[in-house]
Amino acid sequence: MCGIVGYIGPRSAPPIILNGLKRLEYRGYDSAGVATIAEGEISVRRDVGKLKNLQALVGTNPLGGNIGIGHTRWATHGAPSERNAHPHLGSTGEVVIVQNGIVENFLELKEDLIAEGVEFKSDTDTEVIVHLIEKHYATGIPFVEAVRQTLQHLRGANAVVAMSTREPDKIVAARMGNAGGVVIGIGDQEMFLASDMPAILEHTRHVTFMEAGWMTVIDSNGYEITDFEGQPVEYKSQKISWDPVAAEKGEYKHFMQKEIHEQVRAITDTIGTRIDWKTGKVTLPELNLTPELANKINRIVITACGTAANAGMVGKVYLEKLARVPVEVSIASEFRYSDPIVDDKTVVMAISQSGETADTLAAMVEGRNRGATLWSIVNAVGSEAMRIADGCIPMHTGPEIGVASTKAFTAPLVDQYLLAMALADLRGLLSPKDQLAMANELAQLPTKIGTLLDREADVEKIARAIKDIDHCLYLGRGVNMPIAYEGALKLKEISYIHAEAYPAGEMKHGPIALLDEEMPVIAIATQDQWYEKMISQLEQAKARGAPVIAVATDGDQRVADLADHVMWVPDSSWLISPILTVIPMQILSYHVALLRGCDVDQPRNLAKSVTVE
Ligand code: G6P
Repeated sequence: MCGIVGYIGPRSAPPIILNGLKRLEYRGYDSAGVATIAEGEISVRRDVGKLKNLQALVGTNPLGGNIGIGHTRWATHGAPSERNAHPHLGSTGEVVIVQNGIVENFLELKEDLIAEGVEFKSDTDTEVIVHLIEKHYATGIPFVEAVRQTLQHLRGANAVVAMSTREPDKIVAARMGNAGGVVIGIGDQEMFLASDMPAILEHTRHVTFMEAGWMTVIDSNGYEITDFEGQPVEYKSQKISWDPVAAEKGEYKHFMQKEIHEQVRAITDTIGTRIDWKTGKVTLPELNLTPELANKINRIVITACGTAANAGMVGKVYLEKLARVPVEVSIASEFRYSDPIVDDKTVVMAISQSGETADTLAAMVEGRNRGATLWSIVNAVGSEAMRIADGCIPMHTGPEIGVASTKAFTAPLVDQYLLAMALADLRGLLSPKDQLAMANELAQLPTKIGTLLDREADVEKIARAIKDIDHCLYLGRGVNMPIAYEGALKLKEISYIHAEAYPAGEMKHGPIALLDEEMPVIAIATQDQWYEKMISQLEQAKARGAPVIAVATDGDQRVADLADHVMWVPDSSWLISPILTVIPMQILSYHVALLRGCDVDQPRNLAKSVTVE
């Protein structure tokens, strides 16, 4: 999704902006651009494709200036091209802007502007904004007022950042709705703007997050925030403690590989301070969970998109099994328009890595409007999904850069397990003995994940064996059924192999017709209550000639005899098993994609955070 960076201060703006955009690459983009003001003029450089193209362009055609804005674009209106890339310059050459999000009513605004004689240079919705700002600015009002008046015309959700040669000492930014965050970075005699923290972390950790409906004017000495009416608003700045090194690839080839390996630390941190190891009691300090609330809840709706929704499907099993609360998992883009049956005894719980997925945020708002208690499990610190919830479980995984989510899948599994334990305890459903036993098993989890990571080379061999397939079928049952979905999603996202997932018992109702030598079956057949049924599915698949790749419990000879390849996982209770079985699935997808020469961290057509509908 689009990324924005802005800078004003004593230093040369272009390298700071280009570096910032680099740190936002994980969001996905198809073109990029930068604009600065130097010697009273705006200069713009834009190019399609990767940021290195823009960097090369700025290399051969340098930019000056101590003030500038930059943008990585993910095409919504108008094809990826130089002319549609941001920043967009107005007709007078005095105003330039970037936008993240969508202007829903751009067509009617564009028609009006064309009727007034404005010539458009791009196919974007964004360009109407710059022309409207110019139109208002021409009446002689201050730049900030011109931006403010422009916002009154716009419908939609977006973040807009603008600057002008007539007031070259300031940048104006506005955030309308939930199309993505804007963070203001406060430096020493210099200021930054960005869509997300990694873009500015190397310069400052002192930040203010902008809420929807806020505008800011920054100059090198500071900033002011108002609402769209120009009234001052109450805001707080804060110090963020992320380590910039954590946003780097370090020793790994790809962020995805690094993030798969970070799961040991991420899960250790997730369990970390939340368990009293003497009693096994769980505390989730940011959730504001009281005994009254725990006993009042009669339903939980988990809402999320993509990988986060798959994590929710595992959470459903945990919460229903342990806390005995009925749970529904509702895809956020469906939930928001489903006229949902929700009341004050319902918890709507969002799961989101970015905390800024438009559908997930809209689903949360829908839940809130209907009286539900709002919880969220979120990775990005300070994001919208974290801030608007009544209670939150922060993921503690650190920034996730690879578009295909890995550590932000396993962390919420553990978070939901902890939540289920805490709720079960408060609802009088968990004996002290069971609580302690569960805590002890969680304590072993990081080591078991470490064991799985040590087996990467074995999984890579299997990746070599299947790298040329065109299709495959993932199967799982019970608590591992969502892992089949997540395994298939990982493979299709990064290797572009068609992968379907089914609850194994459904194989006979359709997908079995697809099975032959060309259609491998990848199945989770760990030793749990569904084991015999899974073995029978594997036998049926073999009988149709399908190659079988199984995820199995260490030492299981029966599966070894049946399957063509086995990805082994350490023994665990059935509830904990998905946190382990998903790891070889992630590693398999990573190596298949690598062997096929795919862009693992930035797969085609996908974005890390989807801030538009
Ligand atoms: C995009 C990403 C997925 C992610 C989904 C939800 O589709 O490519 O990896 O699972 O959005 O994102 P969220 O930030 O809400 O977890």
